[in-house]
Amino acid sequence: MESFVRSVNFFGNCDAERLLEEFGSPLYVYNEDIIRGNLKRLAGLITKYPYTTNYSIKANSNLSLLKIALEEGLNCDAMSEGEIRLLMKAGFTPDRIFYVPNNVSREELQFAVDNNIMTSLDSIDQLDLYGQINPGGRCAVRLNPGVGAGHHEKVITAGKNTKFAITDDQLDTLFEVAAKHDLKIVGINQHIGSLFMNPTPFLESVKNLLTMAKRFGKLEFIDFGGGYGVPYHKVSEDEKPFDFDRFEAEFEKVLDSFVEEAGYVPLFKTEPGRYAFCEGGVLLGRVYAVKYNAGRKYAGTDIGMNILTRPSLYGSWHDIEVIRNGKVVTDNPEYVTVTGNICESGDIIAKERLLPEIRTNDIACVLDAGAYGYSMASNYNMRLRPAEVLITCSGDAKLIRRRDTYEDLFRNFEF
Ligand SMILES: Cc1ncc(COP(=O)(O)O)c(C=O)c1O
Repeated sequence: MESFVRSVNFFGNCDAERLLEEFGSPLYVYNEDIIRGNLKRLAGLITKYPYTTNYSIKANSNLSLLKIALEEGLNCDAMSEGEIRLLMKAGFTPDRIFYVPNNVSREELQFAVDNNIMTSLDSIDQLDLYGQINPGGRCAVRLNPGVGAGHHEKVITAGKNTKFAITDDQLDTLFEVAAKHDLKIVGINQHIGSLFMNPTPFLESVKNLLTMAKRFGKLEFIDFGGGYGVPYHKVSEDEKPFDFDRFEAEFEKVLDSFVEEAGYVPLFKTEPGRYAFCEGGVLLGRVYAVKYNAGRKYAGTDIGMNILTRPSLYGSWHDIEVIRNGKVVTDNPEYVTVTGNICESGDIIAKERLLPEIRTNDIACVLDAGAYGYSMASNYNMRLRPAEVLITCSGDAKLIRRRDTYEDLFRNFEF
């Protein structure tokens, strides 16, 4: 693909240069058309059986974007009290929130109980704690189906090497603890990891979870987690999108077998995060310095690892487009290392990448930044987190989160 932002008219009636002038650099920019398209795709993933999609808000928790997810008919999952509170502010009613915490306090579980939020417990100890707080209550448990998958070992959340979920051999104890507190286990869930383009391991895990499901009697819901992949190499290698049509057909076959054998139809759910907002977000930053070291070219931008953590944390790849005077440039390709403005040698967005010639004052446009971008950003080096802007369906730019101020940075200190 020659240029993604050009092919989809990402900036609508605006251009990258004007956006940075108005909202400052760096800047997260989202495209509402793309986002709504992807949310619709997710919402209609399974049509044959009762099905809901829980958007996993850790991927992007901007309030305006959550409201779009609500409008598109998605429910949500939350990992923390903060995420639950935010979802309620966005307008999600308790029945549309599924709380999937890991290692949380009595107070945090109590908050969920007080607000009637369906909660999944991911260890025997947490189930026991929940039972103490809410005896006779209804809850779910997170199970480990024995198969994990993901783009990096740090995001594989099932299988033998993970802190998450309850394994097959702990089910007897699980039932004992549930019985001790008279808890009714009405749902089970899994999440095997993040970002798979090949659905085979996911479908394997679904089969395993459904086998475990049979030990629970009749369940109200079974949630298979998220992880649907996004083609991060779409410009550099013409990588194709996740094949949802093929996936849906294979997924439904697995569900067919379960329904036939188990003799009932629960509500099925999946829990994608990344897919919802990833492609609909880019991160713009200014190139402030170009230099050479030992014959290698470095383009120094204001896109620090504090505002896009994925490359330094996971070695993740993001395609980058170069914009000059508001236009994508594609000429004079050469190898360049694109870096940020943080005081770490690992502050690299793209290492020795073949890109069109980058000059000082150009804009680096980092693609597929809409998921696990802003939501993982920090103020490391006392840097301000950027603003977030939405290019609405009418093509205009709307500020949906202002840039941090220095007052924000200093607010929590005792002076
Ligand atoms: C419990 C749970 N569900 C869903 C997700 C979403 O995964 P993804 O963004 O890969 O779709 C995650 C991500 O870590 C998760 O931990």
